[in-house]
Amino acid sequence: MPDLAINGGPRLRTEPFVGWPPKDPGFKEYLAQVIDSGAWGIGGAMQERLLQDYKKFCDAEYAVLNTNGTFALELGLRALGVGPGDEVIVPPYTFIATASSVVSAGAIPVFADIRPDTLCLDAEAVEAAITPRTAAVTAVHIGGMPADMDALKAVCAKHGLKLLEDCAQAHGAVYRGRKVGAIGDAGGFSFQSSKNLTAGEGGLTTTNDGEVYARAWSYANLGRVPDGGWYDHRVMGTNLRMTDFQAAVLVRGIEMLEEQMARRDLCANHLRQRLEEIEGIEPQAFSPGAERCAYHLFIFRYDRAAFGGVSRDRFVQALAAEGIPVSNGYNPLYREGLFANNWSPERCPWACKFYEGTVDYSTTYCPVAEHVCTDGSFWMGQSPFLGTTGDMDDIADAILKVRDNLDELRD
Ligand SMILES: Cc1ncc(COP(=O)(O)O)c(C=O)c1O
Repeated sequence: MPDLAINGGPRLRTEPFVGWPPKDPGFKEYLAQVIDSGAWGIGGAMQERLLQDYKKFCDAEYAVLNTNGTFALELGLRALGVGPGDEVIVPPYTFIATASSVVSAGAIPVFADIRPDTLCLDAEAVEAAITPRTAAVTAVHIGGMPADMDALKAVCAKHGLKLLEDCAQAHGAVYRGRKVGAIGDAGGFSFQSSKNLTAGEGGLTTTNDGEVYARAWSYANLGRVPDGGWYDHRVMGTNLRMTDFQAAVLVRGIEMLEEQMARRDLCANHLRQRLEEIEGIEPQAFSPGAERCAYHLFIFRYDRAAFGGVSRDRFVQALAAEGIPVSNGYNPLYREGLFANNWSPERCPWACKFYEGTVDYSTTYCPVAEHVCTDGSFWMGQSPFLGTTGDMDDIADAILKVRDNLDELRD
């Protein structure tokens, strides 16, 4: 009779974990206010309220609302002056938009490795990847863990580079007493449906620099300028505006956010403690200076040697069968078809002509990211961490159950 659920044994966890998005009557109340106001788009009061609330929430002087996190990053890059002929250094362990936003801004991404402990961009690898074309670096606060901003800012300052923060997963994360978003030159947030603050879709670009703000605002508003007329289009731009309905949902979401973050902290800290008793699994480490992780993801670092050589993939399958919603995570981005297949000078539809056919991702290899993506990590999303410490015990107990029955996983 097998013990593991993957082989037909009893599941350790049969109840569902907390789901997402949250249910709350406040959403309906605020949406009704928008419907009654008649101002559903431009000039809607909720958008103004969201801007004020979010700037206060994330310690940024300026913010531009937009349609999604992907555009929030592109807008940030464009506003920082990135364009054709430039290179932007990005990590390979992240969502595709971190790198594709660089392509959309007309530049090319260059991949630099991550740190094995924090899983965020490694400042030394960034410095080694700098060329005369490097214009900017996009630091990702992966899973909600603030990257080592002091080290990255030092490299950027030394080489005259702009620093963009990809905060899509990091609403409310704290680095040396400040929320992420305007610690670098600009930041991009996502409000997509899985995110810790969501309106289904939506984005926001932050900065403390008035000129960067004005350029981002113009691009999102069809080339108008903040104090110009309606039919006064001075620069290139497009329409990236969000609706007041989205803003209403986000305004309510911000009101609920601190309480949700406190609950995630409580649960994540409990799970971290439980993991101390399990050799071979360690949680994502805090970067130097990182004071609060937003826990959009709880990332486990997995050492197959401590699990009798059982691969990460097999371990994750066994854990998922026990009722724990774990997944493998990203591929190294440079292996995605976008980068692996399209960059020969004849085929490349984007910026390659500015690089004399020198763009080639077939030789890119970031060993830490390779290991983390293929065998060294797995993760859970944020909503189970809105549950109880008992839920966390189930996660740890399921890991122990799989570990104690490794014989059942060998082929
Ligand atoms: C790290 C990261 N960057 C950017 C994005 C893009 O955000 P959106 O889906 O809102 O375009 C995401 C969303 O999944 C993300 O996780």
